Amino acid sequence: MEHPIVKTLTEQTDGLGAKQLLAVALRQFGQEIALASSLGAEDQVIVDMLTKLRPNPDVFTLDTGRLPEETYDVIEATHSRYGVRIEILFPDRHAVEEMIRQSGPNLFRSNVEARKRCCLVRKVEPLRRRLKTLDAWITGLRRSQSVTRGQLQRIEWDESNGLVKINPLADWTAEQVWAYIDEHDTPVNALHASGYPSIGCAPCTRAIGPGEDERAGRWWWEQPEMKECGLHVVDGRWVRTRR
Ligand code: ADX
Ligand code: SF4
Repeated sequence: MEHPIVKTLTEQTDGLGAKQLLAVALRQFGQEIALASSLGAEDQVIVDMLTKLRPNPDVFTLDTGRLPEETYDVIEATHSRYGVRIEILFPDRHAVEEMIRQSGPNLFRSNVEARKRCCLVRKVEPLRRRLKTLDAWITGLRRSQSVTRGQLQRIEWDESNGLVKINPLADWTAEQVWAYIDEHDTPVNALHASGYPSIGCAPCTRAIGPGEDERAGRWWWEQPEMKECGLHVVDGRWVRTRR
């Protein structure tokens, strides 16, 4: 059943653009809403919109300890441009040390289960801790990014974390994202210009070739329907697919 707050907000924002939707969400949730940013192009579009709606929007990023250097440059560029200090969250050091002691630093190469364990320790658990302090979170998810995201709504109830999830760009195409970035001169990750449409941890992200899907460079050794890291869960499942 649809959650009442999701139903109300969905009705209130019907027909509104992404920025107006964010304005409604900020009004509704006050200080209890934050953007989870991977410092990717979509998240930078949302930061640009948020700073035009409120002086110091809450933005946090999950530093897995394996991010590419260029991603840290985006954190600094965002501060210079918008004055936004992105909150940087780290995984539990004991959990990382234990995992690496048992399975080695590059366990994600061995099998999907090991890869998901690494994502759980380095991303999902820190995310869960942060979400416990919020009533709503904002993401840069888009439907057209992958087969696992085809059912995405702009406003959802995040059952696994017990709060509202706002995906203002759910119905945007990659072209719309880049048109916005050009128009607003938004700072973006330098890797995008080198063939990386989707950027995660350095060892689990590569550039894509002509004609490849935009997430083909993420965990490229796995099947497309396995490619979620657990940050985004529906019906208690890590993997969403319309197939
Ligand atoms: S992932 O689940 O495969 O890693 P993706 O890179 O496509 O996700 O990003 C989708 C959205 O998830 C981002 O727009 C952002 O809202 C959130 N996200 C992904 N990675 C992070 C991160 N390291 N820190 C904070 N939010 C993140
Ligand atoms: Fe670990 Fe790769 Fe997941 Fe990053 S993306 S947390 S390195 S498995």
